[in-house]
Amino acid sequence: MPSGKITSVTEQTNQLQTAPSTGETKLANRANDYSQTVGNIRVDSPKMSMSNVDVFYGDKQAIFDVSLDIAKNEVIAMIGPSGCGKSTFLRCLNRMNDTIDICRVSGKILLEHEDIYDAKLDVVPLRARVGIVFQKPNPFPKSIYDNVAYGPRIHGLATSKVELDEIVETSLKRAGLWNEAKDRLDQPGTGLSGGQQQRLCIARTIAVSPEVILMDEPCSALDPIATARIEELIDELRSNYTIAIVTHSMQQAARVSNRTAYFHLGYLVEVGKTNDIFTNPNHKLTEDYITGRFG
Ligand SMILES: Nc1ncnc2c1ncn2[C@@H]1O[C@H](COP(=O)(O)OP(=O)(O)OP(=O)(O)O)[C@@H](O)[C@H]1O
Ligand SMILES: [Mg+2]
Repeated sequence: MPSGKITSVTEQTNQLQTAPSTGETKLANRANDYSQTVGNIRVDSPKMSMSNVDVFYGDKQAIFDVSLDIAKNEVIAMIGPSGCGKSTFLRCLNRMNDTIDICRVSGKILLEHEDIYDAKLDVVPLRARVGIVFQKPNPFPKSIYDNVAYGPRIHGLATSKVELDEIVETSLKRAGLWNEAKDRLDQPGTGLSGGQQQRLCIARTIAVSPEVILMDEPCSALDPIATARIEELIDELRSNYTIAIVTHSMQQAARVSNRTAYFHLGYLVEVGKTNDIFTNPNHKLTEDYITGRFG
């Protein structure tokens, strides 16, 4: 990685010539230059591959030309100041933005090699393959059991009641809610505490065995014990699933993720191995954010 202060245009050009493909150049240290992502946006075996994604709410642009791969079986953390577009970008990955009337998404988003914005694509199975857990728990107005059984039922994943019971139990166990919920499975999910509701929503998401799990600040309403349980779950899930998690907690990003993506004002400023992003960021804006000088 180049070091030292850039003093002239010639020096800038030289540095660009020495490391043009990785983008690992301190040129990006100019805080006002963030239109080009620093770091490797592409990976060898992407599970999802995004190219030139723009998102508009009406005529206001919220995401600018973001390109990024998410590798198979990786946990990628998305961080950045409030309003920088983390949730907006995450919602593009399973077409959740379709539910917002004024929202328009352009660019290409591939799951494996399939364009998820293809007009012929059915979003119901897509959202089973790419599940999402929101910041605010949103259990259905149904029993705890039916919340978890809902997805497996509509996608025909169980052939018998015994099998469905098993999926419900396993999902609740993995989400760390089984002990608290096992004697009240027939009671409404909305009667659980906020943290329990969040774990119920996680159980509901994993019950359909998604390939990709999107998590938007999943622990912001949880106490440290429940947070630790979710982080353990992420660790368990990473061997079979691909996870993208938005978090405001640097510690959480550092604990759970392989790579970290830093967003700023709708741009993807930098992406890299989590350890590198937290110990040796290449962009001034990333550095300012992780050291608490911004956001
Ligand atoms: N439904 C919406 N309608 C209009 N504008 C929206 C909508 N949702 C988000 N925005 C705008 O898009 C931009 C990005 O918002 P987004 O919620 O994606 O940010 P964020 O990084 O997730 O922030 P936070 O950390 O606070 O959750 C903001 O300017 C926001 O006001
Ligand atoms: Mg958000």
